[in-house]
Amino acid sequence: MFNLILFGPPGSGKGTQSDSLVEKYGLIHLSTGNLLREEISQKTPLGIEAKGFMDNGQLVPDEVVIGMVDSYFDKHSEAKGFLFDGFPRTVAQAEALDKLLDLKKTEIAAVLALEVSEEELVKRLLNRGKTSGRSDDTNEEVIRKRFAVYSNETKPVAQHYKKAHKFHPIKGEGTVDEIFKSICKEIDKKIV
Ligand code: AP5
Repeated sequence: MFNLILFGPPGSGKGTQSDSLVEKYGLIHLSTGNLLREEISQKTPLGIEAKGFMDNGQLVPDEVVIGMVDSYFDKHSEAKGFLFDGFPRTVAQAEALDKLLDLKKTEIAAVLALEVSEEELVKRLLNRGKTSGRSDDTNEEVIRKRFAVYSNETKPVAQHYKKAHKFHPIKGEGTVDEIFKSICKEIDKKIV
């Protein structure tokens, strides 16, 4: 298996780049944000629990997210590899992911980290909020809260992968196409 993590703050372009990356490399896209929004739209107990956290810009508890990822793995046992988008978001999630992959005798090949200034991120998210219907995009206060959560809880995940020499920063500003090419350049170095 060949597994990648697309890392970066809210609005850095993870979802945008994921679509082309999964197509090019034949991977399964695992976006915990998309899975959670799907649970909310189906009004499942998990979705009802998650909604309050998401509307406030907080993280959904680790055990809920890890359980959801575990069952997604089971549904895609034949996958060639996964592209993780928005996961792991805490050190506990990164450690749980290591264990899940270890059980499958595989690991993360690379973490591709999109770097974008906060002012550009706010602009992108408020702009998306005009049409996305995402409640966490329409209020600047909630957007700033998501950045604070990212800083406090998600940034430490970078260190987890830096220690393993798997962390690759990528300039996340420019055209979608330019950024895609930079990401592919890093990925291609990992393919032997
Ligand atoms: P999630 O859905 O993961 O959202 P996020 O990380 O906040 O990221 P976004 O989807 O907002 O941004 P993105 O980086 O994908 O950017 P995009 O490509 O869309 O999480 C939402 C919530 O779910 C969390 O707050 C949390 O509550 C919960 N959650 C999810 N995962 C969790 C986990 N693992 N643990 C706990 N809780 C979890 O781009 C943004 C906009 O910019 C778009 O409009 C796009 O068109 C535009 N854009 C993209 N690239 C460019 C470019 N190069 N130039 C100009 N505009 C661009």
